[in-house]
Amino acid sequence: MSHIQFVPAATRKPKPDEGGLGFGRIFTDHMLLADYDVDKGWHGARIVPYGPLSLDPAAAVLHYGQELFEGIKAFRGGDGKVRLFRTEKNCERMAAGAARLCIPPIDPAFMLEMITELVRVEQDWVPRAPGTALYIRPTLIATEPFLGVRPAKTYTFFVVLSPVGAYYAEGIDPVRIWVEAKYVRAARGGLGAVKAGANYAASLLAGEEAKKKGYAQVLWLDAIEHRWFEEVGTMNLFLRIGDEVVTPPLGGSILDGVTRDTAITLLREWGAKVSERPVSIDEVREAHARGELREVFGTGTAAVISPVKELCYHGESLVVGDGKMGELSRRLYDTITGIQYGKLPDTRGWLRAV
Ligand code: COI
Repeated sequence: MSHIQFVPAATRKPKPDEGGLGFGRIFTDHMLLADYDVDKGWHGARIVPYGPLSLDPAAAVLHYGQELFEGIKAFRGGDGKVRLFRTEKNCERMAAGAARLCIPPIDPAFMLEMITELVRVEQDWVPRAPGTALYIRPTLIATEPFLGVRPAKTYTFFVVLSPVGAYYAEGIDPVRIWVEAKYVRAARGGLGAVKAGANYAASLLAGEEAKKKGYAQVLWLDAIEHRWFEEVGTMNLFLRIGDEVVTPPLGGSILDGVTRDTAITLLREWGAKVSERPVSIDEVREAHARGELREVFGTGTAAVISPVKELCYHGESLVVGDGKMGELSRRLYDTITGIQYGKLPDTRGWLRAV
């Protein structure tokens, strides 16, 4: 562990019942911290007992939201081994997002090393039950106590770990989605392509209103014309229209999802016609009217593949296919989780043993 200091916890928490993990409620015995200042750069990487952070109330993150995070999973295979899935992509994405938020990026190779080391220390926390994983939440925050608006001069990087089950209560049962016509998540040129906490804050009110109407998630439309599909906020979106699989392009306002890239790669390997192109609510309504809206699904680290059974737009309900998980969604789910749990061969170098 060369330059990562380790301060073991004096006591260990009991491990949770794997049947009722839910998502993001339980945290492990240790966390990782590192600090940045102008003189030393990123330094002081250490794994310490899990606990509250000490933060000055004037810390910039608390006032101006100079923050971003990542979502990664480690899986326990049937052979008992623990593996990370495409984590280098998350490390690269965090470095790119940090630059957008004027946060000094962490070298992706060093970030990967820190995460690997923390998961190694906490490997007993990686659950074994089917569909479970250890969710990894790296976060970067501005800590300088200063109330002027400018990039902070000091930062903390931390990583916490949480054994998780399914993200949605529905698991992989198809969800109903509300197409949001009033609120906007992100405009091009803003922070939509960055995993900034601010994007999630912007999504909460629409999410609450949708939930009251019985919808699990909000599908965001573009900020200018309110016509073009963007993303679901916790997931990227795919639609199977006739024989084409369509996903909105990375235009600067949606997240470059790792599971999105994984799905595109697999679908193309299987010979499917995949288009990264703008897709509008009008096109989807017309496809639905023709009976060609065959599948809709979201992709994300937390949710993996989440099939959608209904889109509701301005009170009009568009039922997708026969309302069940579609053929491609199922194949993607089985293949991605098959690779993640070591049941299928990792021919693309996506796994990293810890
Ligand atoms: C993820 O899929 O990891 C996410 O970050 C989505 C959400 C839980 C914020």
